Amino acid sequence: MRMPRPAAIRPSEITAERYFHMRRDLLAGALGLSASALLPARASANAPAAPLATLKYTRNARYSVTDKPNTFEDISGYNNFYEFGLDKSDPAANAGSLHTRPWSVTIAGEASVTGTFTIEDILKPHPLEERIYRHRCVEAWSMVIPWVGFPLADLLQRFKPTSRAKFVEFTTLLDPKQMPGQRRGVLDWPYVEALRIDEAMNPLALMVVGVYGRDLPNQNGAPLRLHLPWKYGFKSAKSIVKIRFSERQPANTWALSAPGEYGFYANVNPEVDHPRWSQASERHIGGGFFAARQPTLMFNGYAEQVAGLYKGMDLRRNF
Ligand code: MTE
Repeated sequence: MRMPRPAAIRPSEITAERYFHMRRDLLAGALGLSASALLPARASANAPAAPLATLKYTRNARYSVTDKPNTFEDISGYNNFYEFGLDKSDPAANAGSLHTRPWSVTIAGEASVTGTFTIEDILKPHPLEERIYRHRCVEAWSMVIPWVGFPLADLLQRFKPTSRAKFVEFTTLLDPKQMPGQRRGVLDWPYVEALRIDEAMNPLALMVVGVYGRDLPNQNGAPLRLHLPWKYGFKSAKSIVKIRFSERQPANTWALSAPGEYGFYANVNPEVDHPRWSQASERHIGGGFFAARQPTLMFNGYAEQVAGLYKGMDLRRNF
């Protein structure tokens, strides 16, 4: 990541990647604390932090790993969300300016049901479940996250995609007033990601609305973000406002920005290195900076569920 166009950003605006290990165990007391206590960085931004509502959900053990989840502090304090800055701590510090209500999502393209829907209409029919997923970033770090959400397939099927719908594209909000990072040409805004329709329909593909039993903090992509745990994190678009079904493969933001570095598929693959990061191993966030790196698993450990989607494909060419 971090491929700003040379002219777009002054070197003084780019600070070294900082990862602060504040080892207070927030999680233990987290759910009993007020939202502002949960989000210290956000509380210091201009807008007061709204309380993160508690969600009703059931645990889905079948689709959960048994690894220990990262703390709420790790999950909400170490983020990539370039709309709010390039440093890992920037989204937590700056995403207080994002208003997640009212919110609407436009459904477009190759589907029988299209139009603009309120977030309430989008969410209403879907019972929520908690799934503990591995999260692997292309920058070769990882976390384990107890998301709350519902299967992406259930949402997409409501709009009755036509037989021409071979791909589905997800677009993040474009609003430089709320998203100060969009005032700089770091990427072509808005952020766009896309999936092949059979990937999107895989039962692992999750529409995420919460974490640790509460609404998503803004920096994690409130009010609606994806997570496909077998793919690098950049496929999981945040703060989605548009879903478009298409016949042709859409262009995705990171592949447009650096086609030699980021592909369309972005499947976690320890055998295919990124030009700047070996993908053979990963640094688990929360393990401490000097903790041993752990080996990366094919499809991030989800090969059994997803390998069939890529049968016969050359995964070196389709990276
Ligand atoms: N979505 C938007 N709109 N903007 C971004 O910069 N970053 C991506 C992805 N979705 C990003 C985004 C990347 S690189 C990763 S690793 C994940 O979000 C990070 O999600 P997390 O902060 O919840 O861990």
